[in-house]
Amino acid sequence: MSAPVVAVLVGSLRAKSINRRLAENIARIAGDRLQLKILEIGDLPLYNDDLWADPPASVLRFKQEIAAADAVMAITPEYNRSFSAPLKNAIDWGSKPMGKNVFSGKPAVATGATPGALGALAGVMATAQLLGVVGCAVMTTPGVYFSAKPEHHDENGVLTEEGTISFLSGWIDSFATWIKKVG
Ligand SMILES: Cc1cc2nc3c(=O)[nH]c(=O)nc-3n(C[C@H](O)[C@H](O)[C@H](O)COP(=O)(O)O)c2cc1C
Repeated sequence: MSAPVVAVLVGSLRAKSINRRLAENIARIAGDRLQLKILEIGDLPLYNDDLWADPPASVLRFKQEIAAADAVMAITPEYNRSFSAPLKNAIDWGSKPMGKNVFSGKPAVATGATPGALGALAGVMATAQLLGVVGCAVMTTPGVYFSAKPEHHDENGVLTEEGTISFLSGWIDSFATWIKKVG
């Protein structure tokens, strides 16, 4: 049986985003346990109900990608103790129109990275709540609150610190089990 496909929403649009780097490291560490697919969310217009009259191609593509995935993983920066606007925008698009919520029933998990010591805790918790609101079955324990340390990465952004790799690996196993259980 092939590994579950996980649609990954990275809440930062920055080229050198530490959250995108975390997503790439999680994908690397997961190996063949999960198939992580980082989705493009930067080309989604700001949510506007009027656009459903002639939906933009980016919106249709995004909704189809979520619908086709077995699970969802949100990896977000903490912006002012919450999730980022691009992430909220993407989740709003996926949840509408009424009756066409592609998140409904999907196993999901949230994490996030910050250079700060608190590991984006408030942003991650707010994201987990949001995913629950749109009908996902959210794994909240164990949690990953990632305080990004440049010295734990090589010059290409690859995570090299064994303790962190091992912790993330255990979290990936927990999410794979969660997907099997609730998916
Ligand atoms: C608008 C804004 C608000 C922020 N608020 C927080 C915050 O509440 N907590 C935190 O730890 N970092 C905060 N930061 C710092 C971000 O964690 C930091 O810029 C991080 O690198 C952003 O993630 P990225 O590298 O994936 O873009 C904020 C940054 C911005 C731009």
